[in-house]
Amino acid sequence: MLNSDSMSDLMQMAIQARNQAYCKYSGFAVGAALLTESGEIYTGCNIENASYSLTICAERTAFFKAISDGHKKFKAIAIAGGNLSESCPPCGACRQVMREFCEEDFEIILKDRIYTLRELLPVSFAL
Ligand code: THU
Repeated sequence: MLNSDSMSDLMQMAIQARNQAYCKYSGFAVGAALLTESGEIYTGCNIENASYSLTICAERTAFFKAISDGHKKFKAIAIAGGNLSESCPPCGACRQVMREFCEEDFEIILKDRIYTLRELLPVSFAL
């Protein structure tokens, strides 16, 4: 488990990443900061499109940046979304992407609580 300083650093990076969100259709900005097993941090934001279904979430942006740089193992992700007054749990598609690359004790850091992937995606599908 990450110590509380590392968790709040990761959350601060997610809040910063949220400033880069391209969310002109929903107005809902999301930022994520993903910690690799080797200690690097990759950030991501949501990027929307006029063809709505092409939108990508902040979490998957961060994962795909990291994976395309060669990282395949991850410890934790912090997520910050909306007006920051409430927690922003990851959508189902992002949870399944986490399942592909993370152990079930992967930590998902939200505004008011930390969850494991096991808690947020029980009885999950994997090949
Ligand atoms: N969004 C994320 O970035 N992450 C999530 O886990 C949930 C939703 C984005 C997608 C869209 O740009 C906006 O939030 C509203 O759904």
